[in-house]
Amino acid sequence: MVELIGSNKIKTAVFISGTGSNLKNLIKFSLLKKSPIKISFIVSNNIKAKGLNFAKKYKIKKKTYNFKNKKLSEKLILGDLKKNEINLICLAGFMKILSAKFIKKFNGNILNIHPSLLPKYKGLNTHERVIENNERFSGCTVHYVNSSLDSGKIILQKKILISKKDTPTTLKKKILKQEHILYPKAINKLLANL
Ligand code: GRF
Repeated sequence: MVELIGSNKIKTAVFISGTGSNLKNLIKFSLLKKSPIKISFIVSNNIKAKGLNFAKKYKIKKKTYNFKNKKLSEKLILGDLKKNEINLICLAGFMKILSAKFIKKFNGNILNIHPSLLPKYKGLNTHERVIENNERFSGCTVHYVNSSLDSGKIILQKKILISKKDTPTTLKKKILKQEHILYPKAINKLLANL
C-alpha cells in the first residue's frame, strides 16, 4: 500500500462516470484535518457526468477521457496521474473497466466501492437482482481493484436488512447512505495509522 511521508496527505484521484455523490462525500472527508487523503484530481469518461460540477465547486483539477480508444485513454490518464503525483485512486461509480496493465502500472493502489455484499452480485443492476432474488440482506463493499470485475481483496463491508417494502430505488438510496460512511472508514482503515 502507499506510504504516508511526514504529515503530507496522500494525493488521491477519484474516478467517476455519473452523479458523484461518493465523490462529494470523499471530498468532504478529505477536507477534514485528520483525513489521510487529499483529492487533487478527478477523472471521468463522461463529459456529462454531474459529479464533475464538484470539481469546480471545490477547485479540484478534472479531466475527461473518452475511452473510444481505451489503450490511449489509459496511457493519457497514467501520464496525468504521474504529473499530478497521484498515489491512490478511488473509483466511485466509474463505469469503465480498467485494464490489467493499467492496474499493474499503478501498483494496485486502486480502491472501488460496490453496492452489494461481494462476492455476491458483482457487476451491474445489483439492487434489481437482489430484490428479484428475495434476499434478506444486502449492503456495500470497499475493495481493492484487480483485473477481474469486483473481485479484489475486500477491505470493509456494511450489511443492511432489506425490508419487504423495499424496491430497487429505495434499496439504492439506503445503501448509498451506507456507502458514504463506509468509503472514508475503509480509507482510514488502510491509511490512518501510517
Ligand atoms: C454507487 O452505488 C457505487 O457503489 C457504484 O456506483 C454508484 C455511484 O454513485 N459503484 P455516485 O455517482 O457516487 O452517486
